[in-house]
Amino acid sequence: MDEAKRPPVQHPAFENKEAKKDSVNPQKGREYVPDIGQGAAGSSDRITRAYLDSMLLVYRHLGAVPPSTETRILNRDVSTPIMASALALLERFDPDGSAAFARGIQRAGAVMWTGWIDNEMFRRVADTGANAVCGVKPFQDNDKIYEAIEKAAEAGAVGICMDIDHCFDDTGADCGFVFGQLGHKSLAEIQSYAAAASAHGLPFFLKGILDPADAIVARKLGVAGIVVSHHQGIWCYAAPPAMMLQEIRSAVGSEYPVFADCGVHSGVDVFKYLAAGADAVGVARELMTAFSKKGADGVYDRIMFMNDELKGTMAKTGRATLKEIDMSAIRFRSGW
Ligand SMILES: Cc1cc2nc3c(=O)[nH]c(=O)nc-3n(C[C@H](O)[C@H](O)[C@H](O)COP(=O)(O)O)c2cc1C
Repeated sequence: MDEAKRPPVQHPAFENKEAKKDSVNPQKGREYVPDIGQGAAGSSDRITRAYLDSMLLVYRHLGAVPPSTETRILNRDVSTPIMASALALLERFDPDGSAAFARGIQRAGAVMWTGWIDNEMFRRVADTGANAVCGVKPFQDNDKIYEAIEKAAEAGAVGICMDIDHCFDDTGADCGFVFGQLGHKSLAEIQSYAAAASAHGLPFFLKGILDPADAIVARKLGVAGIVVSHHQGIWCYAAPPAMMLQEIRSAVGSEYPVFADCGVHSGVDVFKYLAAGADAVGVARELMTAFSKKGADGVYDRIMFMNDELKGTMAKTGRATLKEIDMSAIRFRSGW
């Protein structure tokens, strides 16, 4: 295609959903192309949902007691393993954007990973008292990254996270974006971000890891933990994070912090992710919807509701604590 005519690659939230539904590449909708059959089948969101739905619960009743969802995430005692995943664009629903959202997180005593916001907005998020991990995009301009790490540390972040899956556009070029330029990163650069965060006393995480090989390299580079994710299916045919978690957990061992998100709609989904090996589980669109309807109260209510669902699932599977949740509580629908 003539470069001049190529429309800019857009943020997923701005995409033309109709084109997305029927285009050959279901994740992009760069131009409308009539469906030739695999479009919907390639939706990473749909594949992820199908995988979660294929995980069946083995109920266990004897000796069961009321469960607790208390846990420790990023050296903080929290009452739920349900976290807010990174979300940009929250100012669409409230002029206070992420800061308003954070008030619901703070009330829930949960952990929040921030999306693409500026340094000042992150400070306002941290000022709410929420446990906030500052999301830093893979900007081509490294100075922007180091500055964001420094400002986040000053603001009281509990960690820094880079969504390393947001480097390339779907042509394999560095991601030109409406808000700034993103780009691929060398291993040395990643190592230097981890070192910079560490110099400020903060753990540095990578989000968007799906491959156990990446998880092993991340750990070697001094990355403090990972978020297993396909970023709401920005690419098609992504392996479901819950599927990859099991291999990733075996690859990095039981002590390495491994978080995950994608497609979590209920506390039952949270339970499945925990069983597959996540230490805690992120929720993005479900909380964004709650925020759009009821602001911070909506965020708080939704986390509490999902946490109650998680407790119900734990009680009925005989798991008194989060640590007891494992794959022995799961059977797969296929092959029965
Ligand atoms: C509107 C929107 C904005 C997002 N912004 C970011 C972002 O700035 N940084 C990031 O790492 N992930 C971002 N994500 C991805 C989410 O953190 C999450 O990985 C993804 O939505 C999957 O979770 P979900 O199925 O619960 O929505 C965004 C997602 C949505 C829907």
